[in-house]
Amino acid sequence: MIEENNEKILILDFGSQYAQLIARRVRENNVFSEIVPHTITAEQVKKINPKGIILSGGPANVYVKNAPQCSEKIVSMGIPILGICYGMQLGCQMLGATVKPTTTREYGRTACTVNNETTLFKSLSKDITVWMSHGDQVVELPPEFESLAFTHNCPFAAIKHKKNAFYGVQFHPEVTHTLQGSQVIRNFLYEICGCTGNWEMHSYREKSLDDIRKQVRNGRVVCGLSGGVDSAVTAALIYRAIGNRLSCIFVDNGLLRNYEAEEVIKTFKDNFMVDLHTIYAQDRFLDKLKGITDPEKKRKIIGHEFIEIFKEEAMKISGAKFLAQGTLYPDVIESIPAHGGPTVTIKSHHNVGGLPAELGFELVEPLRFLFKDEVRMIGEELGLPEELVWRHPFPGPGLAIRIIGEVTGRRLETLRSADKILIEEIRRAGLYRSISQCFAVLLPLNTVGVMGDERSYENVIAIRAVETTDFMTADWYRIPDEILGTISSRIINEVEGVNRVVYDISTKPPSTIEWE
Ligand code: XMP
Repeated sequence: MIEENNEKILILDFGSQYAQLIARRVRENNVFSEIVPHTITAEQVKKINPKGIILSGGPANVYVKNAPQCSEKIVSMGIPILGICYGMQLGCQMLGATVKPTTTREYGRTACTVNNETTLFKSLSKDITVWMSHGDQVVELPPEFESLAFTHNCPFAAIKHKKNAFYGVQFHPEVTHTLQGSQVIRNFLYEICGCTGNWEMHSYREKSLDDIRKQVRNGRVVCGLSGGVDSAVTAALIYRAIGNRLSCIFVDNGLLRNYEAEEVIKTFKDNFMVDLHTIYAQDRFLDKLKGITDPEKKRKIIGHEFIEIFKEEAMKISGAKFLAQGTLYPDVIESIPAHGGPTVTIKSHHNVGGLPAELGFELVEPLRFLFKDEVRMIGEELGLPEELVWRHPFPGPGLAIRIIGEVTGRRLETLRSADKILIEEIRRAGLYRSISQCFAVLLPLNTVGVMGDERSYENVIAIRAVETTDFMTADWYRIPDEILGTISSRIINEVEGVNRVVYDISTKPPSTIEWE
């Protein structure tokens, strides 16, 4: 757990698509933050004892019946509060202001004038560019409030309550389009909440090592390696904490990318010398996938087979009482449904294939308070290779869901070879880190081509590259034409059985990132 005296900012989530972004912005300013449902009680807040509270935005209208609320007691506790968009409107309404729909809604980049350089706008210029996204706004401000900023259409773009430490911004300081948004958040944290900034990856890592040792004591931990960064950092952290009382299981399902299995094995054998159990199970998976074309069936078969193999192997490791999982913070945040409603769903994430509780292990989840970028920072600190730490996310079912139609050994080879060329060229062009995820897909059709004097009838490879912060929405990445050209001609020339390459230019939504 995060230590009690650590400075903490609570983010009350009203269903904002940006709640995680707010949490990350706070942490980037070296203050720990946690997202909690807006239904949290004042007593719970008191117990947590945060240095400040941020009320997030949200899709509802504060003036309708059943609009998401927070306890009035929280607003009058004396803890500094920053309301963002819906959060500002809600706080203002609770403190006596009037909120109404506007005639001219504001969306996107907007010029904003700061007319009161209080602590919230310290070190900012008078004219700033902010990101607006609202249909409602505060229209009447009682005398207990001060206006801090305005835009052409929004007379109260930022406000402050004179008695309560309540601040509100109608714009979104958490998004990068608000050019000095991070400074606004920083001012709230340091000037208003009095934070000192003691959240650092280094201290988190040390605390985490301590927690692992306390939890595990003399026990043995089993950790499933998937080839991705989360399980690798989990294993490396636990290894640092308890040394060779860690046993890792790596199931090579034959559905990984080129050399990925070898790289994982090498990293953990050479750098960490862990007790590594590698199970080569390609044939077992391919056998089960024979004749299967339905994506969900593929997923189920692969997940099930993985569990069976993992179980068989884990049972051979005597004395193992703990199972390490690379669960991340976004997987455990209680998420608020975007359109209100009383139910709070807890996202359940199943790393490395979803291991069932009946395995009877106690879970060790050292990354459960971290965002992906923070996990990468720890991975680098622990000396994991750069290639592994910055690897694009890769789905559990692997290449099987990038082979549209039946998965066969031959089709796997074709896709693996095309994917290898794609990644090589993307790395060569220095684009790997700016693309969030990039991969090749093998389509279930043949097209006509000419090769030499011969007519060919061969496979099509699709290239997918996306830019995204949360993988919930994504834009297609604009790979420069010349690089696309090189990728295409190399794949067609070097991969046997491919005579056409196409580029996927769909956004998510309505498309998804993967093709299956
Ligand atoms: P979609 O295709 O849903 O993908 O837009 C969003 C992110 O999730 C990954 N993904 C998966 N990861 N098992 C996983 O572990 C799966 O079955 C799966 N399907 C999609 C995808 O690669 C992307 O990062």
